[in-house]
Amino acid sequence: MTQTVLDVENLKIHFHLRGSGLSRLLGKEGGVVKAVDDITIELQRGEVLGLVGESGSGKTTLGRAVLGLVPTTSGSIEYTSSDSGEAVDISKLKGKALRKQRTELQMVFQDPNAALNPSMTIETQVGHPLVVHGRAKGEELKRKVADVLERVGLSPAEQFMSKYPSDLSGGQKQRAVIARAIILEPEVLVADEPVSMLDMSVRAKILQLMLNLKNDLGLTYIYITHDLATAKFFCDRVAIMYLGKIVEIGPTAEIFAHPRHPYTQALLKAIPDVDPTKLVPRDLPRGEIPDAARPPRGCSFHPRCPLAKAECGWEPRDLKSLVEEHWTRVPVDEFEHESMVVGGLVELNTDAGSVKVQPTKGGTVDEIWAMFTRIKEENPNEPLWTGVTRMEKVADGVEFDFAEPAEIFLHPAGESEVACVRY
Ligand SMILES: Nc1ncnc2c1ncn2[C@@H]1O[C@H](COP(=O)(O)OP(=O)(O)OP(=O)(O)O)[C@@H](O)[C@H]1O
Ligand code: SF4
Ligand SMILES: [Mg+2]
Repeated sequence: MTQTVLDVENLKIHFHLRGSGLSRLLGKEGGVVKAVDDITIELQRGEVLGLVGESGSGKTTLGRAVLGLVPTTSGSIEYTSSDSGEAVDISKLKGKALRKQRTELQMVFQDPNAALNPSMTIETQVGHPLVVHGRAKGEELKRKVADVLERVGLSPAEQFMSKYPSDLSGGQKQRAVIARAIILEPEVLVADEPVSMLDMSVRAKILQLMLNLKNDLGLTYIYITHDLATAKFFCDRVAIMYLGKIVEIGPTAEIFAHPRHPYTQALLKAIPDVDPTKLVPRDLPRGEIPDAARPPRGCSFHPRCPLAKAECGWEPRDLKSLVEEHWTRVPVDEFEHESMVVGGLVELNTDAGSVKVQPTKGGTVDEIWAMFTRIKEENPNEPLWTGVTRMEKVADGVEFDFAEPAEIFLHPAGESEVACVRY
């Protein structure tokens, strides 16, 4: 029988950026980063759910929100304790109620050096949560700390209690951090890249320890990682995140055997092969991760997607990238001439559905038309052109219309759910 521990619904966490001093003086908005953008996810008791994605996809923000460490913009995070069986919305808790709730949900961070105080003994640090919450003191405290150290493999415990973090190896430090996280007997552990700073040789051991603890103590995990290889070994289910959204979610075996979202497929191809003689394509899709404060129109992945279609959200900014790409290929004098004719292409800095490119004082409409015609002929199969519904020369410039983006949300596909127009 499965039991829902966490029920996250339509969660949004938006950060309002203040912008630079200059842009504020000029009265410009700083912009909004949608770090978590309408995420719905359920976690079953005893499950290990992986959150996987490149930097900035919102994994840490989502993980911290589950612990009530980040103010949410909207949506809910319902947590059901196995003791009371009652559901509370963590995103609505404040003050004492939140502090009490937090004992049941704990976090393990990436860097054990930052998590541990170098001037305190392991005994003091690991026992600290018990003291803060008034759960134990004196001999009982000491015994509980010793028990938990044994559990995480810092054994014999007496030898580790009086040590300082600097006396411990990286793996041992992370064991101490895990001990501190479980000493209050939490139900949910959010592990944010818990092994990425450790040597390869100890990573598997720490993950195995975490699996053993999960089974012995009935824990539920959210495991945050860049690394699909460890997720494959560690997780029951995997959610692939991109710019604040889940783009694919499913049982781990299904995600690896049948990756459906083009981004998941690209991530899987980028896993380094253990056999260096085997040739595997390692490259992630073209282009950089976009600016989170100005995400692409339609499907956020469309500028990098090798399978993008007309309705994926093409926009003037993509046209600008295409022109700039073209300029890296042409001789310098042609670049200089064309950039003189069109100027800085500032009018293309928009996600509007239509745009007009006008000549500078030194250029003509015919020259702009010639440039775009040439770019199109150079690469007629560029997916962007499927999304340009009109390219027309008018009296004072060249006009473009872009296809209306499709609405994109998670759809069932096989045993997974995928947010892509292809499914
Ligand atoms: N306090 C904050 N104020 C403003 N923006 C923030 C804040 N915290 C996170 N962000 C932004 O939110 C987005 C998501 O960040 P987050 O740290 O959750 O990503 P991540 O997936 O954990 O990345 P990484 O893999 O690098 O740890 C990023 O664009 C980040 O810059
Ligand atoms: S919706 Fe699918 S096909 Fe379209 S850009 Fe996004 S991932 Fe690619
Ligand atoms: Mg992070």
